[in-house]
This record gives sequence, C-alpha cells and structure tokens, in this order.
Amino acid sequence: MMPLLEPGTTRFALADRSRTATRRNENRGKHVSDALNATVMQIVEVSPGLAIFRVVPDEWTFDDFQAGQFGVLGLPGNADRCAVCDSEDEPADPEKIIKRAYSIASSSVTREFIEFYIVLVPSGRLTPRLFALKPGERVWLGPKIRGMFTLEDTPEDRHVVLVSTGTGLAPYMSMLRSQLTCGSRRRFAVLHGARHSWDLGYRSELMTLARMCPNFTYIPTISRPDEEPVPWAGESGYIQDLWQRDPLKEGWGFSPTPEGTHVFLCGNPSMVETMVEVLGESGFREHKRREPGQIHVERYW
Ligand SMILES: Cc1cc2nc3c(=O)[nH]c(=O)nc-3n(C[C@H](O)[C@H](O)[C@H](O)COP(=O)(O)OP(=O)(O)OC[C@H]3O[C@@H](n4cnc5c(N)ncnc54)[C@H](O)[C@@H]3O)c2cc1C
Ligand SMILES: NC(=O)c1ccc[n+]([C@@H]2O[C@H](COP(=O)([O-])OP(=O)(O)OC[C@H]3O[C@@H](n4cnc5c(N)ncnc54)[C@H](OP(=O)(O)O)[C@@H]3O)[C@@H](O)[C@H]2O)c1
Repeated sequence: MMPLLEPGTTRFALADRSRTATRRNENRGKHVSDALNATVMQIVEVSPGLAIFRVVPDEWTFDDFQAGQFGVLGLPGNADRCAVCDSEDEPADPEKIIKRAYSIASSSVTREFIEFYIVLVPSGRLTPRLFALKPGERVWLGPKIRGMFTLEDTPEDRHVVLVSTGTGLAPYMSMLRSQLTCGSRRRFAVLHGARHSWDLGYRSELMTLARMCPNFTYIPTISRPDEEPVPWAGESGYIQDLWQRDPLKEGWGFSPTPEGTHVFLCGNPSMVETMVEVLGESGFREHKRREPGQIHVERYW
C-alpha cells in the first residue's frame, strides 16, 4: 500500500527524497570504508580465538615508536562478526569505526608491517569483527602510537623481568625484538602464563632466543595442565605462584631484587594487582615518573 502523502508532497518528491537518502547512506557507507587506511597482510592462528595479525599501513606516517607502546585498530560497525562469537544485543552504528588499543608486538626498528597479538572476546565489539577478517582486507590503524610501558625509565644497568598472561606478552615481543642484546650483562626474563601449552604464543621464538642468548630466560606456566593431551613437564599454576617459587634463581644464579631489577606486568588485571602486592612484600614499588620505582604496569581492561 502507498504511504499517505503529506500535503504538498508529490510522489516524485518522495522518490527524490528516498533517492537522496539512499545516496546519503551510500556516501556515508563510502565515507566509513574510505577511512580504512591499512591492509591485513597475514593472520597467524595460534589457537582457536588467539591470533597474530600483521597489518601494513598505506603510508608510514607514524613517528618512530618505542617498543612496548600501543597502536589503535578499528573496523566499522557494519563489518561482519566471526561465526563463533556471541551476537550483539544492540546493533553497532554502521557509520562509526569501533576502535581499540593493541600493544605492538613487532620490532620498532623494521617497517615491513605492524604486528598485534589478539585474543577473541566473544561478546566484545571489535574482536569478533577482527576475527572475521581475511588477509587482504582493510582495517583502520590509528595515526598515533602511544604509551609509557617502555624500557625508557629502566636504567641500562638493571635487569628486566617481563611478566604476562595471555596476550599481555605482545609488548614484550617488541621489546625483545628491538632491545635484547645477546651476551650483554643485562639479563632479560619472560614469565608467561596461559591456560594450555597451545595458548603459549611465540613459544618457539622465545625458546630459540633462550637457547641463543645466555642472558635471556623464558619460563612459561600453564594453569590447566590436566587438559593437556601429553603430560606437561614445565611449570604450572598462576604466574604469582611461579614467582613465589623464585624461578630465576637457578637460571640467573641470583634472585631479582628491587636494587638490581625492574619488573614489567601486563595482562589479566587480577594478575597485575596480585603481582604488585607480592612484589611489594619484597620491596618493589610501582614506578611513577615523579616517584621512580621498579614495577611498570600496563592495564588492558
Ligand atoms: C594499552 C592497551 C593495550 C592493549 N593491548 C592488547 C593486545 O595486545 N591484545 C589484546 O588482545 N588486547 C589488548 N588490549 C585490550 C583491547 O583494547 C580490547 O579491550 C579487547 O580486544 C576487547 O575489545 P572488544 O571490543 O572485543 O571488547 P569490548 O566490547 O570492548 O568489551 C570489553 C570487555 O571485554 C573484556 N576484555 C577486554 N579485553 C579482554 C581480554 N584480553 N581478555 C578478557 N576479557 C577482556 C573486559 O571485561 C572488557 O570490559 C589492550 C588494551 C589496552 C588499554
Ligand atoms: N586461546 C585463548 O587463549 C582464547 C581463545 C578464545 C577466547 N578466549 C577468551 O579470551 C579471554 C581472554 O583469555 P586469555 O586466555 O587471553 O586471558 P585470561 O583469561 O586472562 O587468561 C590467561 C591466563 O591467566 C590466568 N589467570 C586468570 N586469572 C588470573 C589471576 N587472577 N591471576 C593470575 N593468572 C590468572 C588464566 O588461568 P585460568 O583461566 O585457567 O584461570 C590463564 O592461564 C577469555 O574470555 C577467554 O575465554 C581465549
């Protein structure tokens, strides 16, 4: 049935209005996708819902960034969501770009691509859209790279312990790839917690680094060893329990102290809070620009 016309409105005017609205919508849609300024080069699945994304910006207009900093990825609200994720209660605005921060995992000294290590939050706004992407598809990459979670405030003569759960490992991959010097007096260690052995991203690279660099130690721990198909011979339990077992004493020959070591924490917020407390018992203090300390923290959510 034809809609009732307002007085003075012709059918042609209605058709014209609807054409204008369509054009406006097309322009709007076009405008959003025009804003996408980077291409997904490669997606490496670590385990279902956990992946390494390599993204190439159309132009490298960023200032040099420091290892440990984060960029911002985005996709329009009308981008597809992956099949295995939850559906949205409210549809996202198709004309807006959903943006989230992601630590950069790639080295700050190469410009081939920018790498991110991302976990799918099935109920989330952006990650279900990121996990529907295929190589060659377009994303939005924020023009600025930011963050204070870097080695800048750690004096060169202090050792560095990098503690993470899940994708909290990402900024450390950038730090190691950019700033680890094999054989130097400065020691680095990565303590990484994940649910299963197959969720320990970058494990091969870290094992190789540990074999090649006597000043680098890598200790993974898994929280659900009972679910392993092959018995797990490594550490198990939460990272704070691993820390209490003084895991670096054997590899380093001494225990980290606040005088000689800075500790970085990234990942699950409850892990970060617990580790700050546990480290506090040994005299470590959270670092602030005006009140220098030895604990550096990145809060993901
Ligand atoms: C500085 C910074 C760096 C970050 N770097 C990374 C990174 O390298 N890799 C990465 O995967 N994420 C990272 N995040 C988290 C990321 O920005 C998003 O919050 C996350 O991807 C969820 O986005 P979403 O839109 O899918 O979920 P949203 O719709 O925003 O839902 C967010 C909710 O999901 C939960 N949530 C968010 N992140 C997680 C998570 N990792 N695990 C479990 N629950 C979570 C929280 O409850 C949060 O309130 C970082 C965040 C910050 C602030
Ligand atoms: N393969 C994946 O990792 C994967 C894939 C798809 C979706 N997801 C979803 O993505 C979200 C994030 O998963 P994630 O594994 O990256 O991060 P996470 O849930 O923070 O878990 C990372 C590790 O931290 C442990 N952990 C949890 N609470 C802790 C605490 N208070 N202190 C210390 N350690 C703690 C976890 O153990 P426990 O969980 O055993 O307690 C796990 O070993 C979750 O909602 C998850 O369901 C994950």
